[in-house]
Amino acid sequence: MTALFTEFSLKDVTLRNRIAVPPMCQYSAQDGLTNDWHLVHYSQLARGGAGLVIVEATAVSPEGRITPGCTGLWNDAQAQGMATIAAAIKKAGACPGIQLAHAGRKASANRPWEGDDHLAEDDPQGWQTLSPSAVAFGANLPKVPKAMTLEDIERVKADFVAAAKRAKAAGFEWLELHFAHGYLAQSFFSVHANQRDDQYGGDLAGRSRFLLETMQAVREVWPENLPLTARFGVIEYDGRDEETVSESIELTHQFKASGLDLLNVSIGFSTPDSNIPWGPALLAPIAERVRREVGLPVASAWGIDEPNLINQVITDQQMDLVMVGRAHLANPHWPYHAAKTLKIADPAWVLPAPYAHWLSRYHAPEN
Ligand SMILES: Cc1cc2nc3c(=O)[nH]c(=O)nc-3n(C[C@H](O)[C@H](O)[C@H](O)COP(=O)(O)O)c2cc1C
Repeated sequence: MTALFTEFSLKDVTLRNRIAVPPMCQYSAQDGLTNDWHLVHYSQLARGGAGLVIVEATAVSPEGRITPGCTGLWNDAQAQGMATIAAAIKKAGACPGIQLAHAGRKASANRPWEGDDHLAEDDPQGWQTLSPSAVAFGANLPKVPKAMTLEDIERVKADFVAAAKRAKAAGFEWLELHFAHGYLAQSFFSVHANQRDDQYGGDLAGRSRFLLETMQAVREVWPENLPLTARFGVIEYDGRDEETVSESIELTHQFKASGLDLLNVSIGFSTPDSNIPWGPALLAPIAERVRREVGLPVASAWGIDEPNLINQVITDQQMDLVMVGRAHLANPHWPYHAAKTLKIADPAWVLPAPYAHWLSRYHAPEN
C-alpha cells in the first residue's frame, strides 16, 4: 500500500490514512459560538478523505481569542455547537480533533482580511491582552500586554483543563494544545517574550514550566486512551536556531514523560525579526530530528502539499502524519486527487459512497 494511505494508530484511535487537516481559524464565530459555516466547512473537509480533521484554534477563555471571530470552549453552549461538528467529522470517517488555544499578546486582533493587526485601543470589541511579560510582539501587533500574575497563570491553566473536559464531552477524540505560533504558551517558552524573574521565566526549566504544568493538568482530565498532542514552535529562524531546537527537544522529552502522544512540529513566530527559508517541506528534517531524538510520533505542516513529496516523507519515516492545510481550502477533496496522483487503483474509494460510486473506474468521465 502507498505509505500515505496506510492507517496510523495512536492510543485507541486509528486514522484511515496519514493525511491530517491542521487547525485553520475561520474567524467566523460570534461570542465563541460556531454556526452553519463551521458545520459545513468541517463536514466537507472530513468527507474529502483525510484521516484526521483538527478544528481550529479554539480559545479557552474570551481574552484567549485571536479575534472576536474565534471559536471558544469556555461555556457549555459553545460545547454543544462543537458536539455537532465532532459528530459530523466522525460520521464522515475522519477522527474529530480540536486545538485548544490562548492567543496571549497576539489576541484582540482584527480578522486577517480586515487588517491582521491589533484592534484599535478604543475599539469596544477589543480587550486587554495577557503575556508572561509586558512586552509587545511589535510590527503589526503593538499592544503592550499585561504581565500575568501567578493568579492569572493558575486561572489560565484551569481554563485549559475546563476546555479539555468540554472537548471530551463534545465527542472529540484527539486533543491538540496550541503551544506554537507566538501565542501564550509559546511566549512563555520564548526568550523574545518572556522576561520574568520568577519560577515561570529565566532558564529553560522556568520558561518550560507553564507549558509542562498545563499539559500535565490536561492529561489528568483527558482520557488516557485518547491522543493528547501539542503543536509547538521548535524553531524561530531568528539566528539562534540550534539553541532553540536543542531546548525544544529537551522540553519535548519532558512532554513525552508527562504523557504527550505526538508533537505537531511547527515554527515559533515569537518575533517579527525572523527570516524563514520558505520552501517545500522546510520542516521535514527538523520533524525527523525530533522524532528520532525523542522517540515520539510527529506531524508537521508548512508547504507540504505535493502528493509524491508527502508520500516520500511518510515512506522515509520523517513524519508519522502530514498536515495539509491551504491545499484543503482550495480543494476539500485533496486526498482523492492525491490518491490519483499516486496512481492508487480506484482512488474514488477515498471519498464517501455517494461521490465514490460516480467517480469509480466505471463511471468517472475521465476513466
Ligand atoms: C486560514 C488559516 C488559518 C490558520 N489557523 C491556524 C490555527 O487555528 N491553528 C494553528 O495552529 N495554525 C493555523 N494555521 C496554520 C495552518 O495550520 C498550517 O500550519 C499552515 O497553513 C501551513 O500549512 P500549509 O502550507 O499546508 O497551508 C492557519 C493557516 C491558515 C491558512
